[in-house]
Amino acid sequence: MTHPFKSVPVRSYEITPKDVYLSRRDFMKAASVVGGAALLAACAPSAEEAAQNAAPAPVSGATDELGDAVNTYEDITNYNNYYEFTTDKQGVAGLAQDFNTSPWTLEVSGLVNKPQTFGIEDLTKKFTQEERIYRLRCVEAWSMVIPWTGFTLASLLKEVEPTSDAKYVRFETVYRPEEMPGQKSPFYPWPYQEGLRLDEAMHDLTLLATGLYGEPNVTQNGAPIRLVVPWKYGFKSIKSIVKIELTSEQPETMWETIAPNEYGFYANVNPDVDHPRWSQASERRIGELNRRPTIAFNGYGEQVASLYEDMNLQVNY
Ligand code: MTE
Repeated sequence: MTHPFKSVPVRSYEITPKDVYLSRRDFMKAASVVGGAALLAACAPSAEEAAQNAAPAPVSGATDELGDAVNTYEDITNYNNYYEFTTDKQGVAGLAQDFNTSPWTLEVSGLVNKPQTFGIEDLTKKFTQEERIYRLRCVEAWSMVIPWTGFTLASLLKEVEPTSDAKYVRFETVYRPEEMPGQKSPFYPWPYQEGLRLDEAMHDLTLLATGLYGEPNVTQNGAPIRLVVPWKYGFKSIKSIVKIELTSEQPETMWETIAPNEYGFYANVNPDVDHPRWSQASERRIGELNRRPTIAFNGYGEQVASLYEDMNLQVNY
């Protein structure tokens, strides 16, 4: 990904109110030695929020299904890609702090029988919120393990009833250049847009995330609602979505429009197909010193490889 902007480094203690930062640190310290529901309940943000967002908080010392520990809250919220703010990963959190996520609506339209516009509160109430610990693998060859809270995109799509002509799903990020300084850059065709094939969108792993670490999502990670498609490179996981549209044609995506030879529509994590500027054979897990081998489909091959049975993934990268 390109870096035409200046960097603005921000330390985590500058962007997180100190009491919140300290209580999170205390929680993480305690969580690494003690387990159990009482502690987890104690770390919930408030009874009201917990009731609204009724997902279990992360299990202490949580790992993904491969046994790898979740990254720290500080890493996950201070090392971000979010070009609407800046291309400097450590600068996003500071610049996104005042981004206004309330009120927020999500329009779901296009080739559906029941087009609807949902308030964000409707979505968190209507659809069962669950916790999913997923690996996030960026095309830049770094990765993290993140405990998301959210609901399946499939549950939302079923609600609007895609018609038989719907073959793809198009996603669009909010366009607010006054709040998102990066959107003033003429180098990118804003708003950020992404797409999935309908069967990928309906897959049970495909999540609309509304929370992180058992708390409501924060702006730098795509609050109030962002997509998470764990077997694809991170750029498919579009943040701050305001529009989801069902289409018959493969939608354009922002990165494909900019550099079609670098960013394909499918973008499945694949150690055998290199990006022109980054080998994809290995990756750097944030928080670790040594690189680790990249796993095909980011380790989710058993669940998703069948979606691509008839395709040449060297061509459809
Ligand atoms: N969504 C929008 N709207 N803008 C972005 O710049 N960056 C993508 C993706 N979603 C991006 C986006 C990329 S390249 C990655 S790797 C992930 O968000 C990073 O998600 P994280 O910051 O929550 O780790």
